[in-house]
Amino acid sequence: MPAVEIRPGIYWIGVNDRTTDLFEGLWPIAQAGVSYNAYLVKGEQTALIDLAKSFKTDEFLDQVAQVVDLADLDYVVVNHVEPDHTGILGTLRRIAPQATVLSSPKGLEMLASFYHIDQNVRAVADGETLDLGGPELRFLSTPFVHWPETIMTYETSHKVLFSCDGFGGYGALQGAIFDDQYDDLAFYEQEALRYYVNIVAVFSRPVIKAIDKLEGLPVEVIAPSHGLVWRRNPARIVELYRQWAGCAGAEAGLGVTLLYGSMYGNSEAMMNAVAQGISRAGLPVEIFDVARIHASYVLPALWTQQGVVVGAPTYEGGLFPPMVHLLDVVGRKRIFHRRAAYFGSYGWSGGARREFARLAEGLKWEVLDSMEFPGSPTLQTLKEGEEFGTRFAAALKA
Ligand code: FEO
Repeated sequence: MPAVEIRPGIYWIGVNDRTTDLFEGLWPIAQAGVSYNAYLVKGEQTALIDLAKSFKTDEFLDQVAQVVDLADLDYVVVNHVEPDHTGILGTLRRIAPQATVLSSPKGLEMLASFYHIDQNVRAVADGETLDLGGPELRFLSTPFVHWPETIMTYETSHKVLFSCDGFGGYGALQGAIFDDQYDDLAFYEQEALRYYVNIVAVFSRPVIKAIDKLEGLPVEVIAPSHGLVWRRNPARIVELYRQWAGCAGAEAGLGVTLLYGSMYGNSEAMMNAVAQGISRAGLPVEIFDVARIHASYVLPALWTQQGVVVGAPTYEGGLFPPMVHLLDVVGRKRIFHRRAAYFGSYGWSGGARREFARLAEGLKWEVLDSMEFPGSPTLQTLKEGEEFGTRFAAALKA
């Protein structure tokens, strides 16, 4: 894609990534893709704000060259050092060594450790401004959105906020870069939630702090480094981020995530009965087979809903290993203070229920109910499973 002027003298520069399987080597993005957005601000002087992963470097630099001769680039602003935004910095430095790199003091430390770059760099302070001869940049310290060095950059004349990871999302850009160019934003909003929970959620408190800090700052365009540029309704993505950050506290919604695993279909049969019971009680339920669905797609439901039902068999005296793995990821993402229930089948002795209880305690989950059954469920056991689901949903609603 060519460079796109988003406000006079301010250009989107970026590349879509549809070939990387795993973001951060961990989260699947092969289907949705992701974009690495950067921005060029041009006055009498020019500044490039953020870069891209070491990927499609030629395309990226060609886009920059459409707007400014690389030999005339004055500044590179590094809002965030993570290599999805800095991977091409080494190459850029060889081509445009005159450009001064600006980052937070911590950012400069990290640039030295990641890229061994410590010449022609300058630390910027919170609130410091840089006059580019026309446009003016203001640097805002927003630590831990996503790493400790993170800043956001604000262009004061056109009120554009370059927010880097903040307000970003998965989802390669489908030909257009602005929110108002898509009739339906459901895809981008869902992928922004998945990105939020996968990448940023652990830092929800700093996210709220950053949003509070931005309060009162007139923002006409939110220009993050992943996903859509929000110019029709920049408040929308800020509001979504505030809402998602709130889920770290007590604000998760009234709904149930039903996690299950099944070796021979017995726990799955019970899962269907339990799901029926939850639905009958009028609560939304999202169902995930944890042995087959990557945690990346499961975490958003767990993050946004307060109810969790775990259905999985006993395996070698403990809980079905894919469920243990998922709950470990859930703990690392600090999805605490949920209300939970457990059911599952066993062959000759239980054990899964006991292990789940121990894991739930570590997660600070309140276990409201649990049931184990031998072998395959009878019609009577399935009926009890349905009642189990209804009872759990009723307790959540109460
Ligand atoms: Fe998009 Fe934290 O990097």
